Amino acid sequence: MKQAPKPVRIPDLLEMKRRGEKITVLTAYDATMARLLDCAGIDAILVGDSLGMVIMGQETTLEVTLDMMVHHTRAVRRGTKHALVIADMPFLTFQTGLDDAVRNAGRLIQEGGAAAVKLEGGRASAEVIARLVEIGIPVMGHIGLTPQSVHQLGGFKKIAGAAAEKLLEEARTVQQAGAFGIVLESIPSEVAAEITQVLTIPTIGIGAGPHCDGQVLVSYDALGLFDEFTPPFVKRYAEMGKEVVRSAREYIDDVRSGRFPK
Ligand code: KIV
Repeated sequence: MKQAPKPVRIPDLLEMKRRGEKITVLTAYDATMARLLDCAGIDAILVGDSLGMVIMGQETTLEVTLDMMVHHTRAVRRGTKHALVIADMPFLTFQTGLDDAVRNAGRLIQEGGAAAVKLEGGRASAEVIARLVEIGIPVMGHIGLTPQSVHQLGGFKKIAGAAAEKLLEEARTVQQAGAFGIVLESIPSEVAAEITQVLTIPTIGIGAGPHCDGQVLVSYDALGLFDEFTPPFVKRYAEMGKEVVRSAREYIDDVRSGRFPK
């Protein structure tokens, strides 16, 4: 009989860092994509608030609500047997106070079925991270290009110069607050390498070079499904968007010409 896949748990990710084994993460927003990524053997699935852009067609992640995240997390959870499911905390669901953060993270765990939450920010988020961890909610941090601060950052731009130099301290603060891992987004490769060496928790890079303990990509970017814009660091593993258009055209021709159905 085929063995059920063993679920990935948070200590497994810490152990992978210790062994020098790379951690793989992709985003998903629905049960079908989650099932396919899970079947491929991905270690963790992030239900990112990137869903605002790639699923909802919004210009930034700022319009994403907690209800949207709960809804999509529940779908991803249903499609997942193996991967660790991590849900993003959207804008204004954790910045407004510790009680709000507990209630909102709690909904992602209780109603969405996530095993952990991710939230943006270094020092500014440390108190929230510590409180969530204290009550048993695992937290992944996220520093560097934090899309919820897009207006303050002046766009989706790589973090460089003085801002990049401060990141090691921010990363240390996130670790001290109790996070089990940290996303490093769009930062210089050498800064990510240093953070990865200094921290004991895994670093998961996106546009942060090859030295992180793991990598995450937005699946719709990696699979060629989202073509509004492609961040420069993305590797396209497929051109599924083109294939969808080609298949849909073939279907339209078939129906119009009477080739389908027979
Ligand atoms: O929302 C998201 O998908 C993310 C990843 C890009 C890390 O935060």
